[in-house]
Amino acid sequence: MSLWEGNRIKDINEADFGRKEIEIAEVEMPGLMACREEFGPSQILKGARITGSLHMTIQTAVLIETLHKLGADLRWCSCNIFSTQDHAAAAIAKAGSAKVFAWKGENLQEYWELTFEALNFPNNQGPTILVDDGGDATMMILEGAKWEKIYEERKELPDPARYETEDEKNLYAVLKRTIPEDPTRWRRCIKDLAGVSEETTTGVHRLYQIAKKGELPFPAINVNDSVTKSKFDNVYGCRHSLPDGIFRATDVMIAGKKVVICGFGDVGKGCAEAMVGCGARVYVTEIDPICALQACMKGLQVVRLESVLKEADIFITTTGNKNIIMAEHMAQMKNNAIVGNIGHFDNEIDYHGLCNWPEIKKVEIKPQVERFQFPDGHGVIMLAQGRLLNLGCATGHPSFVMSNSFTNQTLAQIELWTNRNTGKYKNEVYKLPKELDEKVARLHLKSLGAELTVLSKEQADYIHVPVEGPYKNEDYKY
Ligand code: NAI
Repeated sequence: MSLWEGNRIKDINEADFGRKEIEIAEVEMPGLMACREEFGPSQILKGARITGSLHMTIQTAVLIETLHKLGADLRWCSCNIFSTQDHAAAAIAKAGSAKVFAWKGENLQEYWELTFEALNFPNNQGPTILVDDGGDATMMILEGAKWEKIYEERKELPDPARYETEDEKNLYAVLKRTIPEDPTRWRRCIKDLAGVSEETTTGVHRLYQIAKKGELPFPAINVNDSVTKSKFDNVYGCRHSLPDGIFRATDVMIAGKKVVICGFGDVGKGCAEAMVGCGARVYVTEIDPICALQACMKGLQVVRLESVLKEADIFITTTGNKNIIMAEHMAQMKNNAIVGNIGHFDNEIDYHGLCNWPEIKKVEIKPQVERFQFPDGHGVIMLAQGRLLNLGCATGHPSFVMSNSFTNQTLAQIELWTNRNTGKYKNEVYKLPKELDEKVARLHLKSLGAELTVLSKEQADYIHVPVEGPYKNEDYKY
């Protein structure tokens, strides 16, 4: 990896290719371009130091440059070791829109070091707002502050080796190394933070848990649960990028195959629809009777994983839960069954158990595609080491859907920054108001050639909504 003017990226020579793709993406991201027009002239984010921990892709590059054009100073890392598009990282570094700390194929030690660098602005300053995806940057700050207190009391820190997961070991190793150098860094950082806007379901779950315990030290905006995020990115984004990932990784014919989608939430619904569209026979596993019934209404067969282990060809986890497909399950699958995860964390599939299966043989077919052969000769094909395959094996969601998500992100950042001293947001988790959600949708209609019907005053009064919206109450399910 190379250092380039304070960035840590793969190769600055990929910048021109990245720039060409960014320019194409801009046309597909009307929400972000509208934000530039509306909020750029007033430099609404001037003075803000933003750390982003979110897949460093071409689409994210357009978000970064939007926040930069609104006046912010940015440092960026990826929230997954495989999701960076190196040409996007190079283009951002070359333009100077943000300092970038990311490349495709980081190891876990590098991942946490790069997160640390993204959180450290010059002159020992931390960020004043966070864009997080999955909550790792937030976690580093909160755990850092906890460890600083331990260090203050005991003058030493616990041994990272005692932690269970590789992620934890590497996070705490960075904290152990850096806290003695600056023992108040994280607590200063918390004081300066106007808040965090969180992108995904899993990160939002984490935030609600922290807030429930009364341990959230700054406000948070749950971007995921804007309707124009979770009912678009999670559904239609995955509907696009799941088959993209499977095709690029394996080139397998999906038509006629039996595909199991574990979880039928927003992501699962998009994934199942894509597989049906490809001609697959789709099975769904669910724990929630409502989601299971929804799957039945779509004509899908709801099963227990164990019932279809031996006959299905492709298994995809979308649950945001852990231990969904274990090594024992994979041992029973048919030869060359494909196994992948599209949920945020890699704990849905027991990759570790597979690697440690007695006498298993691992062959790397190409980066992010491995075949594991069991002692009896049959094997499974594992995508992206059990990490989210749409970003590991392909390039994630397309620009248009990400424009919806990232317009919400931009509006959330503006909310947090402009209200940093108004007391509007307490240390709790908030959603953006429905007016803004509808605004995000409105911004994306024109480029699709949609003609929105305008309510008459009489009609608006009849259904008890304002002519200009919002048109639904908070409980509406869409
Ligand atoms: P969701 O909560 O809408 O859906 C998850 C579903 O899994 C729920 O219906 C739940 O009942 C079900 N589930 C939980 N445990 C299960 C189990 N043991 N077996 C079967 N089903 C189970 O969440 P959403 O929004 O669909 O997100 C799922 C995951 O995908 C999260 O980790 C999220 O962060 C991630 N995500 C990934 C994206 C990507 O591009 N790869 C995009 C958006 C979200």
